[in-house]
Amino acid sequence: MPGRPSASRRTVLRGAALTPVAGLGLAACSGGGGGAPATPTAPVVLGAESEVAKGGAELYQDQNVVVSRAEDGSLTAFSSICTHAGCAINKLDGTTLVCPCHGSEFDARTGKVLRAPATEPLKALTVEAKNGKIVAGPEA
Ligand code: FES
Repeated sequence: MPGRPSASRRTVLRGAALTPVAGLGLAACSGGGGGAPATPTAPVVLGAESEVAKGGAELYQDQNVVVSRAEDGSLTAFSSICTHAGCAINKLDGTTLVCPCHGSEFDARTGKVLRAPATEPLKALTVEAKNGKIVAGPEA
């Protein structure tokens, strides 16, 4: 039997009713390198508030933020991107940040340069404790 003429098939276009995906995932990709390091451009949760002791500092490498706590309990945060040539600082020795690229050192509590070649202090960020978590924001 020869094919029937036009078995008029109708393409039914369904309304593209895509259900919105609930919950924006946490952008916690710390996967394999690439791309220039950057400081947060939006508030980012770093970790538990208890991680930063009074008089101490904590380096959050994935977020490129260093947080310190003064004796009165207040928090301070800086970008841990070196102001010399933009390397991500990966070492915190007590409260001294050491850049792996050319050896600049910074005070994690004040952002000040302790050792050249860097001459500019670290960029200050906003930081607050929220529900027991440390949340750092963009530039202070
Ligand atoms: S980029 Fe940090 S010391 Fe040069």
